[in-house]
Parts: sequence; C-alpha cells; structure tokens
Amino acid sequence: MRKVEVPLGQRSYQVTIGQDARFELADTVASIGSVSRVGIVTQDIVASTEWFASIDPGVRFEIFTVGEGEPAKSLATVEDLCRKFASYGLGRHDAVVAVGGGVVTDLAGFSASIYLRGVAYVNIATTLLAQVDAAVGGKTGANLPEGKNLVGTFWQPKGVICDLATLETLSAREWACGRGEIAKYAFLVPRGTETFSAGTSIEDQVVRCVEIKADVVSGDERESERRMVLNYGHTLAHALEALDLARHFETRGAGNLGQGILAHGEAVAVGLIFAAILARRMGRIDDGRVDWHRRVVSEFGLSTELPSFARGKGEELVEYMRRDKKANHDLTFVLDGPRGVEPVRGVDIKDVFESIEELESLP
Ligand SMILES: NC(=O)c1ccc[n+]([C@@H]2O[C@H](COP(=O)([O-])OP(=O)(O)OC[C@H]3O[C@@H](n4cnc5c(N)ncnc54)[C@H](O)[C@@H]3O)[C@@H](O)[C@H]2O)c1
Ligand SMILES: [Zn+2]
Repeated sequence: MRKVEVPLGQRSYQVTIGQDARFELADTVASIGSVSRVGIVTQDIVASTEWFASIDPGVRFEIFTVGEGEPAKSLATVEDLCRKFASYGLGRHDAVVAVGGGVVTDLAGFSASIYLRGVAYVNIATTLLAQVDAAVGGKTGANLPEGKNLVGTFWQPKGVICDLATLETLSAREWACGRGEIAKYAFLVPRGTETFSAGTSIEDQVVRCVEIKADVVSGDERESERRMVLNYGHTLAHALEALDLARHFETRGAGNLGQGILAHGEAVAVGLIFAAILARRMGRIDDGRVDWHRRVVSEFGLSTELPSFARGKGEELVEYMRRDKKANHDLTFVLDGPRGVEPVRGVDIKDVFESIEELESLP
C-alpha cells in the first residue's frame, strides 16, 4: 500500500492507495478512536459490485444509498441521509463512510459535516476522478436548482482509501472522466520536478496526482488563491458542459439526460488546450509548450478538438464562462506561464474570442 499524507496540522490525514486498499478501512476507522457504529453511504450500482461485499469498517454498520448523478446531489438527499443517521442512532463519536465516486463523497462529506454539528468521515473513492480529485481535500457539497455545488462545507475526512481493484468495474466513460483530471495534474507538476505520463502505471498516476492535490490543498485549505490551479482547464470545460446540457435539454427534455453527453473529463481535456492557446496568445508560453499540451492530452486518449456542437458558438461559450463562479467577477483564467500554472486576472475578452476561433481551426 502506498500512503500520501495530507498535511493540515490537527486535521492531517492519510490517503491509502493500492490494489485491495479497501481492507484498510477497519484500521482507518479504529484510528479515529471513538467509533462504535458507522453509516455507510453509497449507491445501488456501487453496492451491486462483487468487491463491495468485503467493505468492513470493523464495527456495527448500516448501509444508506443515495440516487445517481447530479440531480441526487441535492439538499433533499442531505436531509434524508441525516434523518437516516439519526434513526440509526449514529452518535457524535461515530463515523460516516462514503463508498463511491464524487457524488457520494460530496454528499456523505457534507452530511457528516453538519450532522450533530460535525462527525468524522472516511472516503473510499471508487471512481478514478474521486481518487485523484473529489475525495481528497475536504470540499463537500450539494447542488441547488440555481447551480452546481452552490452549498457545501470544508470538512476534512479522517482518511481516504483509493482501492485500485474497485476501478475494474468502472465504465469507459468514467475512465475518460478520470483521465481528463489526471492530464490536468500533468501540467501542475512544478517545473523541474519529475512528471508522469499516460504510460506510467495507474497506481503511480493516482499517487502522483494525490501528492500534487495534497500539496496544493495543504497550502490553501479554503480555496483563496493557490487552490484555484486545480481548476486548470475547467473554465472552458464548464462552459462546454453547460452548452451541451442546454442543447440536450432542448431536444429531449429533462428525462433523457445522460446519454451522449460530453463527459466532464473530455470537456477538461479540450479546456486544457484552450487554456494553452490563450496563454500563448498572451505571450505567457511558446508554441512548444502548446504542442506539449496537445501531446499530453492525446496520450491520455482524449480528444483535443472543440466538439462539433460548440463550433461557431464562441459568443455563447464566453457568456457561460462569464457566469461560471470559478471565473469570479472579472475574467480570471488559470493559465500556464513562466512560473507554471497560476490564476491570471483581467484577461482581455478579445484574446478569449480569438483563442476559441484558433481552437476551432486546429486540425
Ligand atoms: N469535492 C471536490 O473537491 C470535487 C472535485 C471534483 C469533482 N467533484 C464532484 O464529483 C462528482 C463527480 O464524481 P464522479 O465522476 O466520481 O461521478 P459519480 O460519483 O457520479 O460516479 C459515476 C458513476 O460511477 C458509478 N460508480 C462509482 N464507482 C464505481 C465502481 N467502482 N464501479 C462501477 N461503477 C461505479 C456511480 O454509481 C455513478 O453511476 C461531481 O458532482 C463533482 O462536482 C467534487
Ligand atoms: Zn474537474
């Protein structure tokens, strides 16, 4: 098993990564010191896998399931979970264990942070995206009808377990989501330090990404400035996702969303190329660095091209980018440069438009 420390003073914890790491759960729960019962939060799809039967917190537990996807990441689900914890008799010294992807870890973490004004929780991350991103760092949350992740807390887990064996049951789409985030981290490796590539073993990739995330989070637990680099590639990605969703909504209504929708990681992949083009336009990086972005994203098996539905939609994309809360009030982008990737304020809208056009014209 490989261990990565997230150093946050009294809130420090370890991320355990490896094949069959889920068997470390009982030790992790025992290390909390006070737990006599556990509420396991998961989803039906996750609970139906073969490996799930061996999830054992080492104390009495009950399983609580939540629904699928972003619609389930609601305050109604949080209330439902907290009520179930209460009926089960989960006490202040007990713990919540999340077993699933980012939807489950966000919901379980949020519920744990407010139930009895905060109880301990442990994440077993079972999607690649959750292992390298969502489960680590203590950001929890839920969606409102007005937008994604508009409510939430900073509440650090007592431990995170990334079991590589659980990834074997993941769909191709979920793998693509994770690879998009991993490609992002490849650009966040500090210049001059050892990087990683698509050819590295999946264990090494997860370890390296968690190390980078742990480093960023420990320097900026509550997302003031430095943590913004974790949104590299995400400004255009969120705009693409919003445009895609709106188009599907128009043609099919709310009932059939999901199928044929651009995966988050696929959107991030294109967003990374866009960010590189914008940085070059602003004189922050050279052609070679843009080519490197395209090469890395391709190596991770992701497309570098603007999807056909977004072509000729520069105006709409810019409008979505302006609305994205992560772009703040002025047009702030996370961009590569001589000092590496960093937030850049006051980006000229003309450069943004021209970069979208350039992205469209790429072969
Ligand atoms: N808190 C953070 O810092 C942070 C960071 C990034 C993303 N997020 C959030 O994470 C969410 C996305 O997470 P996600 O990509 O993991 O999606 P997800 O949680 O929706 O999981 C994707 C699908 O995979 C299934 N699944 C999970 N593990 C499985 C396994 N091992 N085998 C088979 N199926 C499995 C799930 O049931 C679901 O159907 C978003 O809501 C996003 O906002 C949070
Ligand atoms: Zn992301």
